[in-house]
Amino acid sequence: MPPSEHSPNWDNLYLEKTTPWDKGAPAPPLLEWIGANPSQIGGHVLVPGCGLGHDVRALAALADVTSVVGLDLSPTAVALAAEFSKVGEESYLAEDLFALDDAHLGTYDWVWEHTCFCAIDPSMREDYVRAVHGALKPGGHLLGVFYLDPYDAEHQPGGGPPHGSTLEELSTRFEESGLFLIEHSAVPGKAYPGREGLERTVRMRRI
Ligand SMILES: C[S@@+](CC[C@H](N)C(=O)[O-])C[C@H]1O[C@@H](n2cnc3c(N)ncnc32)[C@H](O)[C@@H]1O
Repeated sequence: MPPSEHSPNWDNLYLEKTTPWDKGAPAPPLLEWIGANPSQIGGHVLVPGCGLGHDVRALAALADVTSVVGLDLSPTAVALAAEFSKVGEESYLAEDLFALDDAHLGTYDWVWEHTCFCAIDPSMREDYVRAVHGALKPGGHLLGVFYLDPYDAEHQPGGGPPHGSTLEELSTRFEESGLFLIEHSAVPGKAYPGREGLERTVRMRRI
């Protein structure tokens, strides 16, 4: 099913500058992870739903990272992301995660997930898991901060994406599907103001 049937018009939201999720800085749980594990993330990295690319650039600055591809459905987001000064071997692509070009298949050592899984309609989550699995090399890692309960002052129930999740759902979709092994799962110590305790940092290995 095309995402347009279930999703907001992301490009319009960027054009209108209705982007409350964009905090103008990398995700605090990502910076926390990098600080605690400075040389863990390396090789080729994919960031689906990268928005303006703050996380892309934080990853591109890492010594062991060879390249980072920030992927977003919105051409406007990608164009704005590309306006930032380059910090490493980062690039941006306006592409649909659910229709990835074959060039991405089995290409990445790491995928960084941040507010893409919770933004897509839950009916597309199986497609998300398959897309990310397909993009990773065998043994590659998906590291993500999953927004478990997004219904705060910023995002109310019924107000559209992002959509909530549970640890049980993550386990069912990623692990019980036989596609990933969850290696680490913890509440991040750092979060954007207002998201404290609502997220979970999870590292999984692609089987
Ligand atoms: C809630 S925003 C988060 C953006 C960014 N991660 C951030 O925190 O600023 C969700 C992003 O996912 C993108 N997106 C939604 N569906 C997508 C898809 N099928 N493929 C690629 N990107 C998608 C949207 O355009 C949007 O930029």
